[in-house]
This record gives sequence, structure tokens and C-alpha cells, in this order.
Amino acid sequence: MGSFKAIILAAGKGTRMKSATPKVLHKICGKTILDYVLDVTSALRSLKTYVVVGHGAEKVRGLLGEAVTFVRQDRLLGTADAVNRCAPYLKNFRGTVLVLCGDTPLLSKEIVAALLKQHGRTGASATVLTAKLDDPRGYGRIVRDAQGAIKAIREQKDASGMEDKIKEINAGAYCFDAKDLFQVLKEVRKSRQKEFYLTDIVELLLAGNKKVGTVTAQDMTAAFGVNTRQDLAQAQAVIRQRILNAHMARGVTVVDPLTTFIEAGVAIGRDTVIHPMTVIHTDVRIGKNCSIGPMARLRPGTRISDGVEIGNFAEVSRATLGPGVFQKHFSFLGDAAVGAGANIGAGVVTANFDGKNKNRTLIGAKAFVGSDAILVAPTRIGAGAVIGAGSVLPKGRSVPAGKVAVGVPARVIKGAL
Ligand code: UD1
Ligand code: MG
Repeated sequence: MGSFKAIILAAGKGTRMKSATPKVLHKICGKTILDYVLDVTSALRSLKTYVVVGHGAEKVRGLLGEAVTFVRQDRLLGTADAVNRCAPYLKNFRGTVLVLCGDTPLLSKEIVAALLKQHGRTGASATVLTAKLDDPRGYGRIVRDAQGAIKAIREQKDASGMEDKIKEINAGAYCFDAKDLFQVLKEVRKSRQKEFYLTDIVELLLAGNKKVGTVTAQDMTAAFGVNTRQDLAQAQAVIRQRILNAHMARGVTVVDPLTTFIEAGVAIGRDTVIHPMTVIHTDVRIGKNCSIGPMARLRPGTRISDGVEIGNFAEVSRATLGPGVFQKHFSFLGDAAVGAGANIGAGVVTANFDGKNKNRTLIGAKAFVGSDAILVAPTRIGAGAVIGAGSVLPKGRSVPAGKVAVGVPARVIKGAL
């Protein structure tokens, strides 16, 4: 495939999202739209990735950190101008420049790898990713000559009646020879729409006797750009299904994929069963042979060992559950560590937030926390200890291992319950 540097265009306003958040920072399954595009460039080992930012630049920069170089485009003069902002960094680079749009979260690394491969093999000045769409509205059309070679990309707004009917579109992903790219960008003139179109360089390169090729994606998701909230929901549906499929392929039972929401960045062990209407957020790890849900919610920072059962209306957040823990109904464990084999009764709540800080609850192995107990964190329950049903364990209290505590406030009593 060869080495390459990447430019991701992400300066657009995203007006149609009607949002205070820059478009590329909207989230799908726990990750930003832009993260999905960056996943592609990093999976394919881009030597360097430049993200062109304009609208909400500081927010984008704040969220993405060090891994990429940000390039400012303060005035949105069009996609050619956006690429040209990277000239100071890339004009002396000799090699392939991959250009992607920051709003195409469904683009797969396989199709971009195919684009890079063909570009390298043919030695073209530019290779354009295209796709055939039943409804090509809004996209630039691929105009071909009688021999089927690409002649131009015509933007919808500038297309003639005939061109308007073309179903093959520009997916917005391209490979360029760096030298030819920055040379020809100087020749791009403002379009009738008063924008500098990157797509104009196809005709300019051909006029200069340079070679331009195409790769056609079989899967229309390659071209899918998020422009509206409806698009965001549609992209979410595709990505959610991809995530569920990947878990199922690794040996997880998802009883009802239609009502199961698992974000990106979740690991689940073999033979674990995820029951319907369960939500699992990003940064959650679940072991083997667990049963989760129905109607459970696992939030970031949750670590669940093997053989754990989490039932209906149970929520877990930033908590570690040892092997064989039972938490079967109506309960909340937040900022907690629960030892192996502990039983969390129905309605148990760790009151982890005191209005200022989040405090921890430690529950020892084989402890038994009775129904409706409230544990006002920080608290510590020793291994094998029993908390009576309906007890309130006050803040700062410990129950020694093997002891029984009951009442409001809970007191340690002699003997068993
Ligand atoms: C563009 C293509 C079109 C293609 C489509 C694929 C051009 C002229 N047209 O159209 O052929 O079918 O993408 O989705 O390139 N951006 C900047 N700075 C700017 C303008 C845009 O960074 O000044 C970024 C946007 O944030 C976006 C990308 O470039 O990520 C594409 O821009 P957009 O305005 O969405 O172009 P389209 O009209 O969709
Ligand atoms: Mg677009």
C-alpha cells in the first residue's frame, strides 16, 4: 500500500445540524464523528494526519489532543482552499496525500486501503473514490468519456440536465501525488458558487496530461456524510449494528440486537448473554459467562469479571465487580469495588455523591447486602458481612468482615440475622 500523509477536512459549519457543537464533534456510539475518520487514518498508519479546522476550532482541538496536527481555515472558501491550508506542511513532501472528509463516519479502512493501493499501483496523479447511489442528490457527479475514463467531477449545483442524472458520485475521499496536488491547486479558480472546489482539480490535472483514476465502492456507506440529525441517527444505526455483529462474531449472545445499545470501546467475554433493552456505554469490560439485563445500564469505567449476573433496572458506573457477583434487580453501584461472590439485593443503592465529591464503596467477597439498603459512601463492608434489608449505612462507616449490621442508621449486632 505504501506510506502516505492524510488531510481531514473538518472546517465546515454543519449548519443543517442546528447545533452549538461543531458537526464533527457530535457523537455516535460514544465516539465523535471525526474519531471514526481518524480511526481509518491511524489503522492504515498514516505518517502524519492534518485536520483542517475552522468552525469551533478550539473545541475540536481540545477534544482531539496531540496525535494530529491542526491547520486553521478561518474563512470557509471551499474544499480546495481547505486542502491548500496544508501546503506549508506538505508542499515539499514527495509521496501520496490522502484527503478525507471529517463527516463520513461510515467510511471503512478496507475501502480506503483499496483506494491507496490502486493509487500506488497506477502511479496516477489523483485517484478518486466513487460510489453509485440510487439517490445521488447533493453529491458531485462523476462525468466519464465514451471510453469510461473520468473527465470531471461536476457539483450538483453546476450540473447540466444530463449530468444531473448520473448516479455515480464523488465520495469525497481522494489520493493525490503531493507535488501535483499543490501545483495544480494554485490554478483553481472560484466557482460560480464563489467557492474554490477541490473537485475542479480533476479537469485541471487532465488538461496538464496527468493521469486521474477512480475506485468505485460497492458499499454506498463509503460516501455517507452526516449533514443532519437524521443522518446522525442513520449512521448510528449502521455503526451500532457493526458493533453488535463484532461482539456476536466473538461469541457473545445478543438476544435482541434491535433493542441493545453497545457503544464503541466495550470488551465482552465469550458466552456472555446480553438481554434486551440494555445500554452499555464506552469504556466497559465484561468477562465470560455473564448475564446482563434485560434493561440494565453499564456506564463508563465499569469492570465486570466472569460469571456475574446483572439483572433488570440495574445500573453500574465506575465500579469493579469480582467473579460471580449477583446484582439482580433495581440497584445502583457507583464508584464501588465488589468482591467475588457478593450478593447485591434488590433496591440497593450506593449513595456515591455527597453534593461535592464522588466517594467509594468497598464491598468484600461474599458479602450479602440486603434489599433496599442504602450505603452512604464512603463505606466499607468486610468480606462475608451481612447488611440487613432496609438498612442505611452512614457515611464513613465500616462493617467488619463476617459481622451483621442492621437498622437506620445501621449498627453491628451480635449473631446472624
Ligand atoms: C463535497 C464535494 C462533492 C462530494 C461530497 C462528498 C467539493 C467541491 N465537493 O461536497 O463532490 O460529492 O463532498 O461528501 O469538494 N470543508 C472545509 N472547508 C471549506 C469547505 C468544506 O474544511 O471551506 C470541509 C467540510 O467540513 C466537509 C468537507 O470539507 O467535511 C466537504 O465539504 P462540504 O461543504 O460538505 O462539501 P459537499 O457540498 O458535501
Ligand atoms: Mg458534505
